[in-house]
Amino acid sequence: MKITVIGCGYLGATHAACMAELGYDVLGVEVDDRKRELLAAGQVPIYEPGLEELLAKHVASGKLRFTDSMEEAAAFAELHFVCVGTPQLPGSMGADVSYVEAAVTSLAPHLTRPAYVVGKSTVPVGTAARMSALLAEVAPVGAEAELVWNPEFLREGFAVKDTLEPDRIVLGVASERSEKVLRDFYAPILATGTPLVVTDYATAELVKVSANAFLATKISFINAVSEVCEASGADVVDLADAIGHDARIGRRFLNAGIGFGGGCLPKDIRAFVHRAGELGVEDAMTFLRQVDDINQRQRQRVAQVATAMVGGSVSRARIGVWGAAFKPDSDDVRDSPALDIAGRLHLRGATVTVYDPKANGTARDRFPTLEYADSAVEAARDADLVLHLTEWPEFRSVDIAEVSAAVRRKQILDGRNLLDLPAWREAGWTARGLGRR
Ligand code: UGA
Repeated sequence: MKITVIGCGYLGATHAACMAELGYDVLGVEVDDRKRELLAAGQVPIYEPGLEELLAKHVASGKLRFTDSMEEAAAFAELHFVCVGTPQLPGSMGADVSYVEAAVTSLAPHLTRPAYVVGKSTVPVGTAARMSALLAEVAPVGAEAELVWNPEFLREGFAVKDTLEPDRIVLGVASERSEKVLRDFYAPILATGTPLVVTDYATAELVKVSANAFLATKISFINAVSEVCEASGADVVDLADAIGHDARIGRRFLNAGIGFGGGCLPKDIRAFVHRAGELGVEDAMTFLRQVDDINQRQRQRVAQVATAMVGGSVSRARIGVWGAAFKPDSDDVRDSPALDIAGRLHLRGATVTVYDPKANGTARDRFPTLEYADSAVEAARDADLVLHLTEWPEFRSVDIAEVSAAVRRKQILDGRNLLDLPAWREAGWTARGLGRR
């Protein structure tokens, strides 16, 4: 079976490479010349463990090719996956679905035989119904061009594994025929026992945003509790461990710290509230505004604690920052809380030196006025304070003696609550977490 993947960013490049791995012939459609040429050469413009190897393997095997032509795409396959981005609209909380719309309207005129267009992008509820009508209207084959909504749940850093071994597959369908096509397509994954939920378009769209909203809520919940822990002398890590033992709650996504960032959670909760407003049920979603506010507060809180640790003013202070990516195993700095905090302190007059194992380049593009170092120890050189903001494993195994010899003052703030604070204290450091004893 042949497929096309329209839009070869994070989601699309991963989907394309993974579907080639499952044995399909894949044609990726990417309009950005630089990106497409890189991909065609077997290279990935982002850091994602395992992705480049898989992509290169299937570019070499001939199972994966790239084009910028929708005409070629329409001729190549009957199954087309739409994987374009839906960023936050400038000046609005809503999501920009224009790339999804453009994908559908540029493919549809070439659909002269029955085809299935499968949306994987995260979209406001109601988009799929609109795209389905648009598809039937523009495609020469009319209603024989069918839409399916098949949200994607992959996490950055685990993109390949999450695509090949997903927790579940969700299909929003309008006919039994399209359900059958997608069941057959995903048969190799379903054969391993992966749960399948078949539903309507609106539910499929909402499953995705609800999942991200729930995860964001869990993080903001524990971060709000961590503030109370701090005020009362309790320890949020012990607390999370204890409540996490309750299977109804679960320990995952209960790590208090500097909060969530990235290209998904922040914009998805905003778009969810915005869409609820359009549907006249904004009140039902107001709690998500608080989830967003709590998350923003964490960044402020860290900047405040850092300021207090260097004596009440950061001007003239030197601050070493460990981590710039929004999470480890990624070089993505979109809405990264680590970089946001580094930037805030810099804007208030601190000299901030950042080190991230993979994201120095992407961070420098976004924040060229920060200093960048090539190692954790160099970022800490002459610092009055070290901030641990992205939990790369190497920060947990740094040689404390070596860092001790590099800094001006032995002070560290663990924004991810993962460092061994007693070990740092033993070496003479003032070591703090967030909501920790
Ligand atoms: C998220 C979802 O987890 C995926 O299921 C979804 O497919 C994806 O968005 C998407 O919509 O495309 P991702 O953005 O890669 O994935 O990152 P997460 O692993 O969800 O982490 C998001 C943020 O939350 C990170 O900044 C992370 O540091 C933070 N986080 C996570 C915490 O602060 N505490 C936690 O306990 C867990």
